[in-house]
Amino acid sequence: MTSFKSSSRRLIVVGSLNMDLVMRVPRAPEAGETLTGYDFVTQPGGKGANQAVACARLGGNVAMIGRVGDDAFGCAMRASLVAEGIADKTVGVDAETASGVAMITVDDAAQNRISLALGANTKLAAEHLDAAAGLLDGAAMLVLQLEVPVATVLHAAKLAKEYRCPVLLNPAPAAALPDEIWPLIDYLVPNESEAALLTGKPVTDVPTAAVAAEALLAKGVKHVLITLGSKGVFVATDKFSQHLPAFPVEAVDTTGAGDTFIGGFSVGLAEGKSLQDAARLGQRAAALGVTRHGAQSSIPRRVELST
Ligand code: RIB
Repeated sequence: MTSFKSSSRRLIVVGSLNMDLVMRVPRAPEAGETLTGYDFVTQPGGKGANQAVACARLGGNVAMIGRVGDDAFGCAMRASLVAEGIADKTVGVDAETASGVAMITVDDAAQNRISLALGANTKLAAEHLDAAAGLLDGAAMLVLQLEVPVATVLHAAKLAKEYRCPVLLNPAPAAALPDEIWPLIDYLVPNESEAALLTGKPVTDVPTAAVAAEALLAKGVKHVLITLGSKGVFVATDKFSQHLPAFPVEAVDTTGAGDTFIGGFSVGLAEGKSLQDAARLGQRAAALGVTRHGAQSSIPRRVELST
């Protein structure tokens, strides 16, 4: 078990751990069709764990709060956190529920399709956060996503505010959220479809992202970063907005690209970089990640980036 070291780059991730069962397919199968795929792999994933690993590989000192089942997948996922140098003492084991599993297909056009059974992730509750709340004291960021219950996410954000810890929310997978959460969020990082669901406005390009960002800022969020895939990232605060174009690459698998971006962005902010420079670090990491297969397996290490 990894011990948690104190450092100015301490990042706390509250979120999901899933075992990713990944298969490449030439194209998406039709309903009722059996299609032969290839290159099957089983590897640790989940938006929370991916973001924790991205933070760790890109230079952060990371602790994760989450829940796995009392099964082989749960053991493997905890062991993989330890191997990444992530403090896992606050990843609990639920005796009654299977570990989270994601069944992922990636087609020859680099499109992924994900079916999730969240399992033990759904059991992460306020009491687990309360028991680990001390981790937030002096932390550079609390990183949240939506593969654990919304009530737990809301509780985590409230706790972070008690400790004056900045909060980043990646509202993925897309879900409606209670209004009381918005003023607690320092950095909101949705993709196009998540921004569209949260605002009720279509988001497909930079101009529509600008409109959505405005609407999200009006809800009380302090900084909005809408990820636009190959079109880059749109960054907005109440003082300025800016489009940051993507680094041009040949993508083979975009699974986990948002998680890698969030890791790089969080580490960049923890290092004292500006909003734009932290986002560029995240973009650089994600650009390299999408040239490789897998989610967690594609996340680069800092030494691979020229920064
Ligand atoms: O963001 C990618 C992740 O989404 C995968 O690792 C999978 O587990 C799903 O949660």
